[in-house]
Amino acid sequence: MTVTELQTRKAELLKSLEATTSAADLESFKLAHIVRKGSIAALFDDLKNVPKEIKPEVGKALNELRISVEEKFKNKETALGGPIHEKADTLDLTMPSRPLTVSEPGHEHPLNKTLDEMVGIFVNMGFDVAYGPEIEDDEHNFEKLNFAPDHPARDMQDTFFIKPSKDWKPESGEKPVLLRTHTSPVQVRLMESGKLPIRAVMPGRVYRNEAISARSAACFYQLEGLVIDKGVSMADLKGILLSFAKQFYGDDTKIRLRPSYFPFTEPSVEVDVSCYICGGKGCRICKSSGWLEVLGAGMVHPNVLRDCGIDAEIYTGYAFGMGIDRTALMRYGINDIRFFTENDYRFLRQF
Ligand code: DAH
Repeated sequence: MTVTELQTRKAELLKSLEATTSAADLESFKLAHIVRKGSIAALFDDLKNVPKEIKPEVGKALNELRISVEEKFKNKETALGGPIHEKADTLDLTMPSRPLTVSEPGHEHPLNKTLDEMVGIFVNMGFDVAYGPEIEDDEHNFEKLNFAPDHPARDMQDTFFIKPSKDWKPESGEKPVLLRTHTSPVQVRLMESGKLPIRAVMPGRVYRNEAISARSAACFYQLEGLVIDKGVSMADLKGILLSFAKQFYGDDTKIRLRPSYFPFTEPSVEVDVSCYICGGKGCRICKSSGWLEVLGAGMVHPNVLRDCGIDAEIYTGYAFGMGIDRTALMRYGINDIRFFTENDYRFLRQF
């Protein structure tokens, strides 16, 4: 390594720097020559092999090379918009905004969409909307709905207990706290409030200790309905449900009531709507039956009215409860209930 060689090298490096026109090229130059393992540092390492007599001159020339190259590099960096790490702190007000596809507006969740539409239909028919707590006590979730402490129907709904534990026995006398297994306890809260007549729907989330699969979740949505007044009959229930079914599922929809059992209603019914996919002819969705089971309903049991402080000799009422998730699945042709809670943007943006 001689002084002349270093001067030639310097000229080459400066020329190459001069030719860079982009921040990316400049970064490559830096990585090749300026960093600690770059070509200039290598020349410094080489200094130890230079004969003692010429070492001072060579050393000086090398220093000059480094200084000139670094200086030119700095100038170039400024000319090309400044060092990349400093750029992050700079706000470039002239920069165009991101295209709209990136900052796309939010989408309504398919469950909310379904629920809002259902609630809207009932509101238009004169119903109020009421809400209750998701953490409930045994009294509201079971007892006042006519589930006796040892009533086998408690097993119909696998409960998540918060207190005392899942091994709770009615004999213990302790009143459990739990995640509500249905929206029916909101009915109890409304009746207890003492304001009559009642005409309300109650949407909300409910919880059951169930194995999670494509078709069932441990947390899902229900819409509850309750009407209490003088002279309310089963015919009123049927009329309201038929009107709802026509508005929600389509004008040609028919309904069918089958006898069923719920502790809090007597008589109790299971309500089917004619399959809106095949129009009742029979298809894969309705399992060739032509009917879809959509809700449970009935006349409020006199025990329930009495326990909630309502005179069952004067007032009667009907109630109904339907699941939202399965309805939304069928409506939008979704094949796995878990999509609802996975928060996958690719799924959500379709609605
Ligand atoms: N609570 C019931 C369930 O979760 C559904 C239900 C049935 C609600 C009949 C009602 C009713 O209000 O009258 O399975």
